[in-house]
Amino acid sequence: MWPYPKFVAHRGGGILAPENTLAGLRCGWSYGYHAVEFDVMLSSDGVPMLMHDPILGRTVRGVGKINEYTAAQLKAMDAGAWFGAEFVGEPICTYQQAMEFCRQHGIWMNVEIKPVEGFEIETGHVVAQETLAFFSAEIAAHIERPDATTFANLPLFSSFSIDALRAAQVAAAAIPRGYLVDDIADEGWSNLKPKLEELDAITLHTNHKHLSPAQVDAIKQAGYGLFCYTVNTLERGSEIQRWGVDGFCTDRIDLFKENNKIM
Ligand code: G3P
Ligand code: MG
Repeated sequence: MWPYPKFVAHRGGGILAPENTLAGLRCGWSYGYHAVEFDVMLSSDGVPMLMHDPILGRTVRGVGKINEYTAAQLKAMDAGAWFGAEFVGEPICTYQQAMEFCRQHGIWMNVEIKPVEGFEIETGHVVAQETLAFFSAEIAAHIERPDATTFANLPLFSSFSIDALRAAQVAAAAIPRGYLVDDIADEGWSNLKPKLEELDAITLHTNHKHLSPAQVDAIKQAGYGLFCYTVNTLERGSEIQRWGVDGFCTDRIDLFKENNKIM
């Protein structure tokens, strides 16, 4: 089950732009990517924002947790300066802005729900509700004509947090879900499969570094889409595709573009 593009720009523009910003989304799009992965968590007033780390400090100057700041405070923070002089003043991006950009440019979204610890259910719920409202026309179109094309117009949620995905399932069952795990062997496929069933998930997302061809076979035989992160060489991309991996995200959006892989 993978009706989506095979090549996905990680965190917006991979290594070429500040992660999880509009500049990053613009960069991935300018390189010809029609699919993006980004991370979403909540501000203190419950607004979904694009952000990878639960604390300030790495990509945004400051201290404390993201959810100790309101959306207005976060939007005023610089998420580009750490990356390079040309990105000074690039603000933290709201999820709403990211959805609007992606719709405008025909970009498919893998929305990674990345809650601050302790806020899993709330984050899954709010992100799902906001997505449901934004994609109401696409959902209606899919209900009217349920096929791969209308389905692929919907985003895909993923998360390492099963609680966040459960909350998203309750709030927006129509938006498909994928479960994220670092290493399939940690739990084992036989333990993961019931979780995918419970979530009514369509995909499993995993770190390609731990993946084996036997795992790929088992997942594909069970009918799930298989997505890998984060693949940064052409050789590894080709290898896991030969194994049967459906799609992957990359930081090296330049490399796959230059080698005409994404067309
Ligand atoms: O969604 C795949 C990948 O982005 C998960 O890892 O840490 O880059 O969000 P991370
Ligand atoms: Mg991510």
